[in-house]
Amino acid sequence: MPRLWALCLLLASAKALPTNQLNKSCRLRAADTSTEPTCSTDINLRHIQLLEQYMLPELDACQDFYKYACGNWRSVHEAGVSAMSLSGARIDQRYVELFERLLDEPQAPEHELPMYTKLLRYYQSCRALGKPRLRRYLEQLPHPASNHWAELLALLGRYGYHEHYVKIEVSQHNATQHMLVVQPHNYNLSLNLSMIIYKALRRHTHGLLPNLTQLRERFGQLEATLQQMARPANSSSEEETLRNYTLEQLQQELPQFNWTHALQLQLGATYPGSHQLLVDDVPALRQLIAFLNRADARLLQLYSWARFLQHLMQLPHNPLSNSHSSSRSICVQHMRKTLYLPMNFVYEHSYYGRQRAADERIIFGVFEELKSQFAQQLRRNEFGLDAPLLQALLAKVHGLRLNLGNMPANASTQFYVDCAHHWRVGGDFYENHLQSLLHYYAHLAELERSANASVRQLWYSFNHHGPGLTDNIDATPYFYCLGSIIIMPYAYMQLPFYDAQFWPALLYGDLANTLGHEMLHAFDTYFVDYDAQGVMRDYSDQLLLNDHYVDAVNCLNDSEVFMLNERAADISGTRLALQTYMQQPAERRNNGRLYFLQFAQFFCGEEADIFHDTGSKRLNYALAQMPEFAEVFQCVQGSPMNPVQRCRFW
Ligand SMILES: *[C@@H]1O[C@H](CO)[C@@H](O)[C@H](O)[C@H]1NC(C)=O
Ligand SMILES: *[C@@H]1O[C@H](CO)[C@@H](O)[C@H](O)[C@H]1NC(C)=O
Ligand SMILES: *[C@@H]1O[C@H](CO)[C@@H](O)[C@H](O)[C@H]1NC(C)=O
Ligand SMILES: *[C@@H]1O[C@H](CO)[C@@H](O)[C@H](O)[C@H]1NC(C)=O
Ligand SMILES: *[C@@H]1O[C@H](CO)[C@@H](O)[C@H](O)[C@H]1NC(C)=O
Ligand SMILES: *[C@@H]1O[C@H](CO)[C@@H](O)[C@H](O)[C@H]1NC(C)=O
Ligand SMILES: *[C@@H]1O[C@H](CO)[C@@H](O)[C@H](O)[C@H]1NC(C)=O
Ligand SMILES: *[C@@H]1O[C@H](CO)[C@@H](O)[C@H](O)[C@H]1NC(C)=O
Ligand SMILES: *[C@@H]1O[C@H](CO)[C@@H](O)[C@H](O)[C@H]1NC(C)=O
Ligand SMILES: *[C@@H]1O[C@H](CO)[C@@H](O)[C@H](O)[C@H]1NC(C)=O
Ligand SMILES: *[C@@H]1O[C@H](CO)[C@@H](O)[C@H](O)[C@H]1NC(C)=O
Ligand SMILES: [Zn+2]
Repeated sequence: MPRLWALCLLLASAKALPTNQLNKSCRLRAADTSTEPTCSTDINLRHIQLLEQYMLPELDACQDFYKYACGNWRSVHEAGVSAMSLSGARIDQRYVELFERLLDEPQAPEHELPMYTKLLRYYQSCRALGKPRLRRYLEQLPHPASNHWAELLALLGRYGYHEHYVKIEVSQHNATQHMLVVQPHNYNLSLNLSMIIYKALRRHTHGLLPNLTQLRERFGQLEATLQQMARPANSSSEEETLRNYTLEQLQQELPQFNWTHALQLQLGATYPGSHQLLVDDVPALRQLIAFLNRADARLLQLYSWARFLQHLMQLPHNPLSNSHSSSRSICVQHMRKTLYLPMNFVYEHSYYGRQRAADERIIFGVFEELKSQFAQQLRRNEFGLDAPLLQALLAKVHGLRLNLGNMPANASTQFYVDCAHHWRVGGDFYENHLQSLLHYYAHLAELERSANASVRQLWYSFNHHGPGLTDNIDATPYFYCLGSIIIMPYAYMQLPFYDAQFWPALLYGDLANTLGHEMLHAFDTYFVDYDAQGVMRDYSDQLLLNDHYVDAVNCLNDSEVFMLNERAADISGTRLALQTYMQQPAERRNNGRLYFLQFAQFFCGEEADIFHDTGSKRLNYALAQMPEFAEVFQCVQGSPMNPVQRCRFW
């Protein structure tokens, strides 16, 4: 009995957030409060209970705020799980439910819409997969017209494969332009000739193949030769070697390769001699092509097939290399990568469409507040920048774009009908996978050469993710510097991060901080160089001449820093969000704790990845830099969350 009492007392005292003083107005700055509906108290109170569940309120927030706010996270969720990963998994689950339901209901109206039927057929072919039969991929490839290495390479290029020999790629150049880029292959990548790839090759060549050991050896020799060739003769490899050529000039420089023919075969069009390309390291290309033209054509071909298979297996979420988990969610994850736009269309139509109008009003509203707050701050010119540079940075603020769900802006149904027109889907997974790659890369090539302004406007209003995009890049909101655009994935626009019904402290606590962080990436130590059109400028050269700026960077750049630009975006984004939200003292006093706790949710359970430090380090560092945090939690000076020395950036 006494123990039970203790437990109850503990629970009672764990209610760290008195809700009676919270600001429950539905919007902080509603344009017209009379038309604003009241926010659901129920949603807000339930969410606050959720926050309390993750807290360890008996700890001292001034010592380690992460522990205070997220200390109980791991006793609720498994290792590796963060709020963002839970959110992403929920989206996968909705696709599974939708597809399963539609397969059971052939009369459902969705079957009449673009994309749905093809996606369902694709999904079925994926679910029906047995054990991997990689030669099925090779069987689907068109036959090259000759055994010349460049023929097969161009055919593989149609599927977005271009990792060896001569690399011809369509890549984004600025906010409104893709370009053809020609480079020597990336000599860091190599083939690991596994048994499963070897067997596929053997069947494909009807057994006319050296044994595995021998073939590995011959491939190894080929790679060693290629590596030497591609290695720059000069050690000054940092030098920018990418240069502008017309197709005609390139043909003159490198006559041993028929560029017109290769482009036609890979990209499906005849390019005029005046077409502009970017070409890297012409001397290395010359040497490489001369060698390949002399080398054993059969060996080059075998190597190409093997590399292609390895590439397909290594694409994110290929269900063939992932046979352990539930096939339904693996298939959905695979489809979200491979069929990005069709999958988004379906999610928009079946789920997100209903909430879009309300979200756009709220989220774009907060985005505009942040932009105007940041513009004001820039105009105060604390660093004392020259007027032209200041104007250029202000133009960046105004040019920043935001896309919710990463859909083309205002696209008609006809747009999606046209888009799906040449996309072929049948009953076989291998064929479907290759056809979907063809479809994506053919679109990209078409975009590069399209002169149709309305087509271009649509395709550059979002970021058309390719099948090779790795997960940690697109699983959370991000800033894309070439497009000068912030992408908010569907996984973000739901609880626990956001709800249209949120009270201001909850709404700004995450949304304004997330938007602020992504906005400030446009001004961080790496991406500040790109202008609002995604064109590289010399802004950081100019900034580094400014002592105040250099001091601010040096303050951030301590021995603990993991990625300097992430830290910069963290602290300046947090500061911007705070300034936008917490202007009145009453707001700070009554809602501050809730605001910071909501901010913490994004970081609970976040582990480090290639770009980011752990959630715990990020949260504590950013908030320790904010005097408002120390004020709200009444932290004594010198405590970890209220350091004597602080850094500021923007
Ligand atoms: C809530 O905040 C808004 C804006 O700061 C303010 O106008 C309003 O009076 C506040 N309401 C309450 C109940 O504190
Ligand atoms: C984008 O790149 C293309 C190709 O280099 C160029 O013609 C265009 O002017 C660039 N756009 C801007 C806004 O600079
Ligand atoms: C190859 O690897 C080296 C060292 O890891 C790296 O510096 C270089 O940028 C890489 N080259 C390419 C083309 O990825
Ligand atoms: C090569 O592939 C095999 C089997 O897939 C794997 O066990 C091995 O670790 C790989 N080796 C390298 C260097 O990637
Ligand atoms: C592979 O072939 C080579 C040459 O024919 C031979 O010496 C070697 O024993 C064979 N290895 C295996 C594992 O069969
Ligand atoms: C090395 O670079 C220098 C200057 O960029 C150039 O003049 C020289 O020809 C290069 N050497 C080779 C072997 O490419
Ligand atoms: C390539 O040339 C075009 C036109 O001459 C120019 O607008 C563009 O900036 C150049 N791009 C690069 C990367 O040099
Ligand atoms: C290059 O290929 C094109 C298209 O296939 C062909 O018309 C042209 O004659 C070829 N040029 C040379 C020099 O072989
Ligand atoms: C989409 O349409 C809305 C309403 O018609 C308009 O306000 C908005 O500017 C359009 N967006 C784009 C990117 O064209
Ligand atoms: C641009 O493309 C759209 C959609 O395909 C088409 O309706 C329109 O006629 C095209 N405009 C021009 C000028 O070709
Ligand atoms: C950050 O510090 C490291 C080590 O002191 C230094 O190499 C690097 O250049 C600094 N970065 C910037 C952007 O100042
Ligand atoms: Zn970031």
